[in-house]
Amino acid sequence: MKILNVVGARPNFMKIAPLMAEYSRRDNIHAILVHTGQHYDDTMSHLFFEELGIPKPDINLGVGSCSHAVQTAEIMKRFEPVLIGHKPDVVVVVGDVNSTIACGLVATKLGIKLAHVEAGLRSFDRSMPEEINRILTDIISDLLFCTEQAGVDNLLAEGVASEKIHLVGHVMIDTLLSHLKRSWQSTIVEDLWRQYCLDGDGFAVLTLHRPSNVDDPVVFSRILDALNIIQKDLPILFPAHPRTRKSISSLGLQAKVERLTNLHLMEPVGYLDFLKLQATAKIVLTDSGGIQEETTILKVPCITLRENTERPVTVSLGSNQVVGTDTEKIIAAYRKITSGKFKEPQVPPLWDGHAAERIVSILEEKLGVC
Ligand code: UD1
Ligand code: UDP
Repeated sequence: MKILNVVGARPNFMKIAPLMAEYSRRDNIHAILVHTGQHYDDTMSHLFFEELGIPKPDINLGVGSCSHAVQTAEIMKRFEPVLIGHKPDVVVVVGDVNSTIACGLVATKLGIKLAHVEAGLRSFDRSMPEEINRILTDIISDLLFCTEQAGVDNLLAEGVASEKIHLVGHVMIDTLLSHLKRSWQSTIVEDLWRQYCLDGDGFAVLTLHRPSNVDDPVVFSRILDALNIIQKDLPILFPAHPRTRKSISSLGLQAKVERLTNLHLMEPVGYLDFLKLQATAKIVLTDSGGIQEETTILKVPCITLRENTERPVTVSLGSNQVVGTDTEKIIAAYRKITSGKFKEPQVPPLWDGHAAERIVSILEEKLGVC
């Protein structure tokens, strides 16, 4: 069976890694990897291939950054001849980025089976570009692999046939569990401690990259006002996404950020380093999708700086609180956690490190290869 897999942006790499490893364990699978080039900086792409042992992509479409329409269209234009040339039995797309919908659409128009990993998640907020990508990818997919029960329920409510839907757990958590031990060898905490001359007995980790937060000067300023209070208690380590760095300067927020002398802005870090940072942080503040899930497994309190989440199990069972971007609400959530009011999180069902095995077995069964 020929399986063509698509990656494009940072969170895709953690999701594809265990699938590529699982294919290589099965004799009858020929796996092809296509990188769209949506992310291209070493720290946003190349680094993860080395760290996670992902094979070098067979094809890199080299699309780069542009507007949504141009990026999506360019990926489609460049992906179509690849699919026509390779004629895979199935295309596997992961997550909810522009590369996901662009390649999914090309596959379905060519009559090639499409499998979506991380299907069914819904924030019910259509101003999020990812929500549009999720809904559209799910509508055209033949096989939908869900990470949590809410995903299954959302798909059923949208009329997707139940035989297409499979609750399998989470490939991103497969990657976390298989790399956690190695991440303990990372010296990033000691290195940053020395580099920034930190003291005290803990730190917070921050990531921000959602356009609704970092492209809007009012919202970004509200978040910075809360961070100003928090950094008086705890150093905040902030590996900043390139979008966010650009916004800080284009929105004229450089001086405001620099006044927060205990907020330490740095380049994005590698996966093992970031895992070590998350696992040893007192608290994580984020607007990332994946980090809400990783902190749940690591049992680290997570404050989500968004009004909603498409990953509700991280709140119902995990360590996540969806707090929004109001300054006072962020500070109140922080104080509640530091005063010890933090419920013991539980591991969501099937987040056990075996999601990729389940997915590949279902692909084999459904596509007729035993
Ligand atoms: C994308 C995804 C988002 C995901 C995030 C993960 C879409 C619509 N958005 O958002 O769902 O959470 O990736 O990180 O697909 N840039 C660089 N170097 C890079 C990549 C990007 O400098 O290697 C800068 C460029 O200025 C670019 C901007 O970041 O314009 C945004 O990149 P883009 O891929 O369009 O969206 P993200 O914000 O990264
Ligand atoms: N991550 C990383 N280095 C960083 C920040 C994040 O390796 O500096 C990892 C993080 O552990 C998670 C993934 O990137 O596995 C999340 O990606 P991101 O937040 O960019 O995307 P989202 O999940 O919001 O789509």
